[in-house]
Amino acid sequence: MEKNSGIYIAGHKGMVGSAIVRKLQQEGFSNLILRSSRELDLTDQKQVINFFEEKKPEYVFLAAATVGGIQANNTYRAQFLYENLMIQNNVIHQSYVNGVKKLMFLASSCIYPKMAPQPIKESYLLEGPFEPTNEPYAIAKIAGVKMCENYNRQYGCNFISVMPTNLYGPNDNYDLETSHVLPALLRKFHEAKIKGLEYVEVWGTGIPRREFLHVDDLAEACFHLMETYHGNVSVNVGTGQDITIKELVEIIKKIVNYEGEIIWNSDKPDGTPRKLLDVTLIHSLGWKYKIPLEKGIKDFYKNKFQD
Ligand SMILES: NC(=O)c1ccc[n+]([C@@H]2O[C@H](COP(=O)([O-])OP(=O)(O)OC[C@H]3O[C@@H](n4cnc5c(N)ncnc54)[C@H](OP(=O)(O)O)[C@@H]3O)[C@@H](O)[C@H]2O)c1
Repeated sequence: MEKNSGIYIAGHKGMVGSAIVRKLQQEGFSNLILRSSRELDLTDQKQVINFFEEKKPEYVFLAAATVGGIQANNTYRAQFLYENLMIQNNVIHQSYVNGVKKLMFLASSCIYPKMAPQPIKESYLLEGPFEPTNEPYAIAKIAGVKMCENYNRQYGCNFISVMPTNLYGPNDNYDLETSHVLPALLRKFHEAKIKGLEYVEVWGTGIPRREFLHVDDLAEACFHLMETYHGNVSVNVGTGQDITIKELVEIIKKIVNYEGEIIWNSDKPDGTPRKLLDVTLIHSLGWKYKIPLEKGIKDFYKNKFQD
């Protein structure tokens, strides 16, 4: 990418898109093309056709999607399937039609099989059944990964995709119904502390293991891969280290300085038992994460809840 290349970041107001914008700005890219969903509804084919014909972006980061935690994925199943398919079909196809030089599609580690051997290698995709709560989302995202792969094969495009692990950081969603586990927990513990509550109820058993990556580390990885990687394998992006939800809760409790009890509600679903990415490929491509989890959460908490 040249410093004045037209680079469209779809979903620039979201957690991932905004981190990619920050990274590109830091690197001195000056011709960023940004549209909110109000200005450009990516589920609307006509709008997307007109936008690509008019703006002719040279590079595309596709970080626009309908996303959420277990509850949202399980409740809005039709919407997650339809909207994600529409967004990615429109953007990936118009990128091909308009000669985009390179596109990056943001997939997700939650599209791997529920019982995938750990750590999860890129080759395990589609080797077993999905976690039922997010099957529609996974089906849509896999279609996106396969579109990139097959547009490369049939049309000679240069479209790549990445499989980020669970992310956290600025511009995350804090809505308790639709958010991911880490921001939801931070908010719960913060509110419990402010209100002086005696206990905090946490969903699930605390036993599942999860990996967390700061979104600024992800943006570094996306930039690095956009500059250096050409291939059909959707690349895992993670730290390569996981912790139990119980351990995460203890870290958050300590950072928030909450002194009450924790009650585990095991009637609520746990989701996949373990989700740790094998990061051998991305290490071999020259990228490793930098921000340690506890420091990342501490900074994130300070910026979001204390300043
Ligand atoms: N968050 C994670 O932990 C995580 C982990 C792995 C992978 N990912 C992937 O990263 C990508 C981005 O996730 P995120 O966490 O950044 O999500 P997010 O914060 O919810 O942001 C999503 C963005 O998509 C845009 N968008 C949604 N529907 C749209 C539409 N119809 N037209 C145009 N724009 C639309 C939204 O735009 P407006 O704000 O303008 O409405 C929003 O900025 C997703 O593909 C997700 O699968 C995320």
